[in-house]
Amino acid sequence: MAMSIGTEQLQPSGTVHGEHRWDFMFAALYDRMMRRGEKRGMGERRGELLAEARGRTLEIGAGTGANISYYTDEVEELILAEPFEPMRRRLEQKLAGSGRSASALDASAESIPLEDESLDTVVSTLVLCTVDFQDRALSEVARVLRPGGRLLYIEHVRSHSPRTARWQDRLETPWRHFAAGCRCNRDTAAAIAAAGFSTEHQDEHWQSAPPIVTPLIVGRAIKGSPAG
Ligand SMILES: C[S@@+](CC[C@H](N)C(=O)[O-])C[C@H]1O[C@@H](n2cnc3c(N)ncnc32)[C@H](O)[C@@H]1O
Repeated sequence: MAMSIGTEQLQPSGTVHGEHRWDFMFAALYDRMMRRGEKRGMGERRGELLAEARGRTLEIGAGTGANISYYTDEVEELILAEPFEPMRRRLEQKLAGSGRSASALDASAESIPLEDESLDTVVSTLVLCTVDFQDRALSEVARVLRPGGRLLYIEHVRSHSPRTARWQDRLETPWRHFAAGCRCNRDTAAAIAAAGFSTEHQDEHWQSAPPIVTPLIVGRAIKGSPAG
């Protein structure tokens, strides 16, 4: 059962989604808003990274299913988790038309209903900006990955440029309201490292996105063995 906080709903998992009509509109417009950026590099970036997904794979914040077509046959089982119903409905529709076998799961990244060390790969694309509790989400990802398992990520992050970072701080609130909870100023690379992963990523630029969300990190984080 959802608990009420003012006009918002706190899901049992901890995810807050406003009851604002715009969040629903955002889900309806998401694919259209992303189309240009997908054509101008994001699609290719997804394809290259997701070719590394292997074995039992979970995608967190799967949204409308932008990644579905990029998974290869190396993925033995695919679980697509998405906590926001308007997004998940579109994900299920895309999945049904894709011919790909996968399950859609109503779950937030902060509370993943899967066994410890039961996954080979976790995928997060443009999600760690939006989760409410990034440290909790990353510790859940670490819990469900087997030792040596990988988190594959494409995330927009805090800029290395102090000037752009200042704009990201100034515009954090309006952007968050516009982009359904997205925070444009998070140092996600530091958060992934702080969660105990070894990371390998490139800094890239998201073409055709507003300047406050152009800095991207694209790569993989590897879970160490319990001994090291
Ligand atoms: C910007 S969209 C990205 C969608 C998709 N991953 C993509 O690459 O296009 C962010 C997604 O994260 C979802 N989300 C929001 N809070 C979340 C949470 N706490 N845990 C997991 N996903 C969350 C949103 O509902 C939305 O679908």
